[in-house]
Amino acid sequence: MASIGSKLKVLLILGSIRDGRQGIKVAKFVRKKLEERNFEVTFYDLLAMNFPMVKQPVHFYGPKRTGAPQNLLDCEKQIRDVDAFVIVSAEYNNSIPASLKNFLDTFPDGSYGFKPSGLVCYSMGPYGGYCSSTSLRTIMGVLASPCVSRVLAIPFVQDAIDEDGKPINEKLNSEVDPMLQQLEWMANATKNHRLKDGLPTSSFMFGS
Ligand SMILES: Cc1cc2nc3c(=O)[nH]c(=O)nc-3n(C[C@H](O)[C@H](O)[C@H](O)COP(=O)(O)O)c2cc1C
Repeated sequence: MASIGSKLKVLLILGSIRDGRQGIKVAKFVRKKLEERNFEVTFYDLLAMNFPMVKQPVHFYGPKRTGAPQNLLDCEKQIRDVDAFVIVSAEYNNSIPASLKNFLDTFPDGSYGFKPSGLVCYSMGPYGGYCSSTSLRTIMGVLASPCVSRVLAIPFVQDAIDEDGKPINEKLNSEVDPMLQQLEWMANATKNHRLKDGLPTSSFMFGS
């Protein structure tokens, strides 16, 4: 399905900042798949960005964001600018890495507002980190970014993708498609409606 009008913009977020992380391989793979589908991708590697442990969410600086750090303001602007999110998350203790939660909590629901998320999870074990996706559904739901139903879960990630993001297991190339198809559909639908009717500002906990 082609996107309507200009390219759909997606923010790809990699949650793990761990030394020796597997997640970077997964993010490289997903980035390539998004670009193949003609998404315009902005990639947030929280490690490369040196994203700080945030002591104050950006919206707590008030509607004018007076005194908010410039790096957080720049991120908030980009979050507002995209049409969809793809979140690559490992499973840490049946949930998501603290680095990812720290990032997500830094911005208000109004910035993620009514733009869909697609989830990619992974682990070194047999279950593909699926518990992290159930945590993310709740978190992103509260942030007004509902997740599409299909998830890409990658078990035994250490054997699934090489350092360049190329799948060792060829099946991954098609296993990612259902999530991406749903995301594209939802992103187009919400973008068109947003352009036509704007956002229901009164619905946000922290304002639009
Ligand atoms: C703090 C921590 C908690 C973990 N908890 C789980 C878990 O609950 N379930 C699981 O399947 N794997 C768990 N693992 C293993 C991870 O799935 C595996 O290490 C994976 O590679 C982590 O992603 P990363 O390498 O990108 O950081 C855990 C790893 C860490 C570091």
